[in-house]
Amino acid sequence: MRMLAIIVQVSKLDLPRPSRLAGALQPLPLSSQDRWIVDASGNNVPYVGVNWPGAADTMFPEGLQYESISNIVGKISQTGFNAVRLTFAIEMVDDILDNGGDVTLSNTLTLALGQENGTVVLSEILANNPQFSANTTRLQVFDAVAEELAAQSIYLHLDNHVSKAMWCCALNDGNSWFGDTYFNTTKWIRGLSYMATHGKGNWPTFSSIGLRNELRLSTTLAPTLEPYTWSTWKTYMTAAATAVNTANPDLLIFFSGLDSDFNIEPAVGGSTLADPLFSFTVASYPWANKFVLEIHEYDEGISSVCSIYEGILLTFGFDATTKTNGNRAPLVVTEWGHDETDASGAYNSAYSTCLTQFMVQRQLGWMIWVLAGSYYIRSGTQDSDESYGLLDHTWSGYRGNASLVALEQVIQQTYAAYGQ
Ligand SMILES: *[C@@H]1O[C@H](CO)[C@@H](O)[C@H](O)[C@H]1NC(C)=O
Ligand SMILES: *[C@@H]1O[C@H](CO)[C@@H](O)[C@H](O)[C@H]1NC(C)=O
Ligand SMILES: *[C@@H]1O[C@H](CO)[C@@H](O)[C@H](O)[C@H]1NC(C)=O
Ligand SMILES: *[C@@H]1O[C@H](CO)[C@@H](O)[C@H](O)[C@H]1NC(C)=O
Repeated sequence: MRMLAIIVQVSKLDLPRPSRLAGALQPLPLSSQDRWIVDASGNNVPYVGVNWPGAADTMFPEGLQYESISNIVGKISQTGFNAVRLTFAIEMVDDILDNGGDVTLSNTLTLALGQENGTVVLSEILANNPQFSANTTRLQVFDAVAEELAAQSIYLHLDNHVSKAMWCCALNDGNSWFGDTYFNTTKWIRGLSYMATHGKGNWPTFSSIGLRNELRLSTTLAPTLEPYTWSTWKTYMTAAATAVNTANPDLLIFFSGLDSDFNIEPAVGGSTLADPLFSFTVASYPWANKFVLEIHEYDEGISSVCSIYEGILLTFGFDATTKTNGNRAPLVVTEWGHDETDASGAYNSAYSTCLTQFMVQRQLGWMIWVLAGSYYIRSGTQDSDESYGLLDHTWSGYRGNASLVALEQVIQQTYAAYGQ
């Protein structure tokens, strides 16, 4: 629960954004209890987060050529978020354990951007973040981000986005499904365990981990591909969860579904007609009190009538928090989002209006895609602009004013739905 005395004081001062107050983070570790995420004292916790990518070619968090880590986290905090979904690639851990150790900023930027541009971007990063040097490693950058998130009272949700570092998520990118070209399941579980262990003690607000982003059908025809079924899903996801829970028993463990995490209903219900052998009972696992479901929901043009749209979402797993049989659990919408330019009008679209109201009413956690105004490199294009970015290209201001106002309203409403 937020501290009432401070809230009263702030409203007296009439600050523009009293949605979140530094120092008010609820105590760790978090657990799941029926449909709620609860803190160490048993009070319900809303997850109100933003995605901060760090899983593409350079394998460390984006934006540092434009801003310092502390300024970026300051913006996250001022906007009202209490959580960051920080993405990483298994390839970083493979390098650490198999390929001679973690890679320096200097080397990773040269590898990803070429000698000339890599050198320029490195000097920009060091100018903004003078605590780093050319020899700082990628994991040390993650550590610095984690330290600053803690300093500014933001939960760190770590997300395994890909195995091979790149922009995600095409069906043929080799990262899609268990056993895919780059998706070695042994290395995946090892990488998750490594990060869960590394963050324990080192990252003060490390609260949760997402096992894998947007599992999906693979079209690579890799000979090692496992069958695209919920039974396969159960085999690997439960093994990974057990490994993570052993490495770091404090973490909430987020389970995504199939079809790019658009569908989690079989995990909610514990069965599916499509795979009669599949049967999933969360209560039978040692991490049952850490289990959280995550789903992604972008504008697919499903329906502009909210009641129809919501009814369809309920059949794909948005009923996770209200299911009366099966695996009722907390649900966090770990990706949703839209073009953040005001001119797009997306902030006011039926999709955005219906989805955000639905999330607020059902007291779901959520994390918007995406903080990044631009990427070091995306699909081969350097300094690539991100129209979905809350921040502008240079990470200095917001991309849209009306978009920001709409977002801040959803943030306030989400806390209010939790009595905060
Ligand atoms: C290097 O950066 C410049 C300026 O951002 C860009 O125009 C150029 O395409 C980059 N070089 C490569 C190889 O991408
Ligand atoms: C980086 O490491 C190299 C090789 O170990 C060393 O020669 C160099 O002095 C280091 N540079 C900095 C800035 O620490
Ligand atoms: C996956 O990685 C492990 C550990 O390095 C290795 O033993 C195994 O052969 C790999 N599996 C495939 C299918 O490449
Ligand atoms: C936001 O509003 C400010 C103040 O009215 C204005 O200067 C700025 O250009 C606006 N930004 C955008 C992206 O519309």
